[in-house]
Amino acid sequence: MADEIDEIRARVNIVDLVSQSVLLKKTGNRYQGLCPFHQDRNPSFSVTPETGRYKCWSCGETGDVFNWVMKTRNVEFVEALQVLAELAGVVLKTQNPKERTVRMNQRSAMAEALAFFQEQLPQHKEAVEYCASRSLAKDILEKWEIGYAPDGGEALTARLRKKGFKLADCKTLFLVDGSETQGYYDKFRRRLMFPIRDEKGDLVAFGGRIIGDGQPKYINSSDTPLYKKSKVLYAMNVAKEAMRTEREAVLVEGYLDVIACHCAGVNTAFASLGTSLTQDHAKLLRRWCDAVTVLYDSDTAGQKAAERATEILSAEGLRVRIASVPEGKDPDTLLKAAGPEAVKLAAKSSLTPLEYRVQLLKKEYSYADDEFWKLAVAAIAGEIDELQRARFIDNLAPAYPKIRDAAHARTALREQVDRARRATPEYAVINATGPRPSRPVNLSLSLKAAEVVVFGAVLDAQFRTEIWPFLQDDAHFLTPNGRRLAAELVKSFPDGPPAGAARQWLPETHKGAQELLAAVEQDERTMGLSKTIITDATAYLKRKLDERIVQNLKEEQGEGRLQEIMSKLQPHKL
Ligand code: UTP
Ligand code: MN
Repeated sequence: MADEIDEIRARVNIVDLVSQSVLLKKTGNRYQGLCPFHQDRNPSFSVTPETGRYKCWSCGETGDVFNWVMKTRNVEFVEALQVLAELAGVVLKTQNPKERTVRMNQRSAMAEALAFFQEQLPQHKEAVEYCASRSLAKDILEKWEIGYAPDGGEALTARLRKKGFKLADCKTLFLVDGSETQGYYDKFRRRLMFPIRDEKGDLVAFGGRIIGDGQPKYINSSDTPLYKKSKVLYAMNVAKEAMRTEREAVLVEGYLDVIACHCAGVNTAFASLGTSLTQDHAKLLRRWCDAVTVLYDSDTAGQKAAERATEILSAEGLRVRIASVPEGKDPDTLLKAAGPEAVKLAAKSSLTPLEYRVQLLKKEYSYADDEFWKLAVAAIAGEIDELQRARFIDNLAPAYPKIRDAAHARTALREQVDRARRATPEYAVINATGPRPSRPVNLSLSLKAAEVVVFGAVLDAQFRTEIWPFLQDDAHFLTPNGRRLAAELVKSFPDGPPAGAARQWLPETHKGAQELLAAVEQDERTMGLSKTIITDATAYLKRKLDERIVQNLKEEQGEGRLQEIMSKLQPHKL
């Protein structure tokens, strides 16, 4: 077991592991971030890849990958070992031997296939010629491990059989097709083969491009026991180090676009594989970077895909910019036509999603079209950044056709934008106090930021007792979910707040409350809570309650009567 432990320690990158839950920034040969073990306001937590250890200078927590998993998942060593073995691709001798053999066989079958494809490439003239026609030089073929699946139908099948692999198993890996009775045959034929590795570098799938024209252009492995396409991004293993340093990445459409970008020095390029981007992809990226530039073709399909990708990435709190390659080109053809600088420039000349949207609207409509203003107002209203909204209103106001005077046009536009914003469900969040969520968590979006802070304090043993009395009056809360959650907590724990980790006492509450609190816990607005932040939040909620009371009185009693009451309440007012 000792050698397994050493192997795991060598193979698991502690920075990757910790990055799954803590945002780390590189400083010298260390990485720093907010300590997850205490309420850290300044990054006092550091991870050193050379030693494979983490340490918090403030609270003193320290350890290696095993301690990390035990501590953060609250598990014993044996379970931590299993978790890390899985992550490292180390098969434990203590593990179920059958499972172990199956996994090992799968990995070796994939490795065999890769070796086979790479051996085949130089032996087939049409493959060599095709590579030349696409400017794939020897060093590129090597770096990206590109191979060739020959025509004929049984080349790989025969090789796998000869090496003793069970073809039925190879079928589950998307290497062969067919059956015992009818015979097996190759899945990929007459295709240039791109191996797909996950972010750890494990070979999990293949993508095959037909040589020349033909349909389908690409065949990609479907999901297999080793591969979930919604979770794997092409080139993540190659690009992640650059992403971590630059904190940003470039998303392109295809395999050859990724390769072209890397050749042009854009080392953070990656792609999703024959599928559109998923929320899981965005989560994976979030571990490595804060911002993504979407670099797609500028045709209509490319535009649509870019806007979809933008939505998915922003929902995970990534800052998105949209760049486009000149019409009819992709990064690969751009590299060939105009050289590496052109590719770099394309990736750099990007727009914010709002700039992009408005630019498209300007191309499609004229200022005289009502439709332009309707869509522009909707686009501006969707922008979370107030300064950007103001900037767009200012810029567009002089072109507003209905009102000559720019100042009046600005007011009119602003009113329309405000109206549109009030009509959107996210208004509560956009309008919230406090820092805006860089990673909105769906469920906690139903709460106002100040409410998130209050419930975050409830989850935190350090602040729980202090905040508890505030929950007693559910009128303090602005949203239906906030009121429900406060009432539910008070009802579940009539004797006051339980001690210990929330994990232990939450199961005593209603399921809905548990889910909402779990979302609150994940919400970045509860990160680095402090007394000041909490006091600001409660003060805000109290003020809002007062305003509502005054408003109600006004409606019930009339403004004049209210003034009278107020003057009696404040007899000393001058
Ligand atoms: P493109 O059609 O833009 O191809 O598809 P490409 O990447 O530019 O390839 P070349 O330059 O013509 O050789 C973009 C990506 O969409 C996926 C592949 O991942 C491809 O790289 N795709 C495309 C498929 O999965 N299947 C297809 O049939 C076509
Ligand atoms: Mn292409």
